Amino acid sequence: MKDQLAKIRAEALAALEGVQDAAGLDGLRVKYLGKKGELTGVLKMMGKLSPEERPVMGQMANDVRAALEKALDEASQKLEAAALALRLKAEAIDVTIPGQAVAVGREHPMNIALNEMKDIFTGMGFTIMDGPEVELAAYNFDRLNAEEGHPSRDWSDTFYFDQDSRVMLRSQTSPMQVRAMDTLPLPIRILAPGRVYRKDEVDATHSPMFHQVEGLVIDKGVTMADLKGALNTVAERLFGEGTKTRFRPHHFPFTEPSCEMDVQCHKCGGVGCPTCTGEGWIELLGAGMVHPRVLEMAGIDPEVYSGWAFGFGLERLALRRFKIDDVRLIFENNIRFLEQF
Ligand code: DAH
Repeated sequence: MKDQLAKIRAEALAALEGVQDAAGLDGLRVKYLGKKGELTGVLKMMGKLSPEERPVMGQMANDVRAALEKALDEASQKLEAAALALRLKAEAIDVTIPGQAVAVGREHPMNIALNEMKDIFTGMGFTIMDGPEVELAAYNFDRLNAEEGHPSRDWSDTFYFDQDSRVMLRSQTSPMQVRAMDTLPLPIRILAPGRVYRKDEVDATHSPMFHQVEGLVIDKGVTMADLKGALNTVAERLFGEGTKTRFRPHHFPFTEPSCEMDVQCHKCGGVGCPTCTGEGWIELLGAGMVHPRVLEMAGIDPEVYSGWAFGFGLERLALRRFKIDDVRLIFENNIRFLEQF
């Protein structure tokens, strides 16, 4: 038994010398000190020894166990230290390498233009309202007094989702007027910017997806004078004090009377130049007094309440504001283009 213990001790210590990793170390621990391990096996035979031999062998077995445990601990510490050294080497940071500059983004020209509009209108007491781009034709057309057969409802102009032409990508932000009247308490004063969709081919001035900004005011005693006063103020805020505007009669199904507002060219003062394509005036938006039928369909009494509304294309405004000559640049997101604003 004495020889056996000495052999276990020698073998185990030699094996521990060559151990490579934690798994190997565990294997040796089990092999020698485990429940079914070699040393445990020897200890189990102690019962068969004579009473004189037993304490001697017991002492020796304990010595071997203590030596193995100590060697295991040391090997384990050595492995951990080696692993740590490896990790430190792998994760070493060379603080002398020059850093990489973080690219700072900037506001997209469309957002600059939109935020400007939001600022102007919230300053005039308007609330910003958001709504769905997938819209019911009932809101996009019917409730806006554009009945069946109206040319804008045509399949060649509008993206419909169903055969019955009931669900569509909104072709204008005007359905937000209906949503505002259906959900908000009177009086109403909202600005509703958002994406709209039309079946247009892409070119320098057209995109099948673009942005509009809708405005709606409904209150008692609102007149065309309020419309003109407010929109003139907006034009001055956008293009500078003293900016001249003109209102031309137009037709929209949901306003009566309807008009378009032009702004005198801020570049040439109305003489005609490249900015206004020689016109002297720049078309800015469509507007009008909310049609009594539209109020009625929303359950608002047109004898008590009246309102005015407007809508304009945000791309056109941004293009003009930043002298961009092709709408495609707005959507391409070429960083070298966007960095200029
Ligand atoms: N929705 C119209 C369009 O897409 C623009 C418009 C005109 C909106 C007059 C209005 C308005 O609210 O009163 O052409």
